[in-house]
Amino acid sequence: NWTNNDSRVSREHNDEGLRAVALESTDVDGWDDYDTVFIGYPIWWGIAAWPMSSFVAVNDFTGKNVVPFCTSLSSGIGQSGKLLAELADAGTWLDGQRFSHSSSEADIASWVNGLNL
Ligand SMILES: Cc1cc2nc3c(=O)[nH]c(=O)nc-3n(C[C@H](O)[C@H](O)[C@H](O)COP(=O)(O)O)c2cc1C
Repeated sequence: NWTNNDSRVSREHNDEGLRAVALESTDVDGWDDYDTVFIGYPIWWGIAAWPMSSFVAVNDFTGKNVVPFCTSLSSGIGQSGKLLAELADAGTWLDGQRFSHSSSEADIASWVNGLNL
């Protein structure tokens, strides 16, 4: 609950040192075979939800096209994709796209098709 200052996510927001969230798994089957990777996440306080950082930091994006996309209540994608790209330090990262709760399947298909991947 991000409106409760004592919640786990609020404590992590207030203290960057608490954000190194251990994930159940960071492995992706056949990772080496993918040349394009979509990285999707909710926006938390203007940046990518930090569990995504734990995933990006340990996977090798060398030679991959990476497409960040996010959901949010109102914030834009901002610097969130760029920050993940810096963390990955490899791969070709596109600008990315933000979707609101009202985005339709057609909106998303149109975006994906427009990427000309
Ligand atoms: C901890 C937390 C922080 C959030 N911060 C923002 C924010 O800064 N800007 C915004 O527009 N939405 C914010 N939201 C709303 C989420 O981006 C929104 O709930 C999410 O994109 C929808 O996906 P979900 O169903 O996984 O929550 C926040 C939500 C949470 C839980």
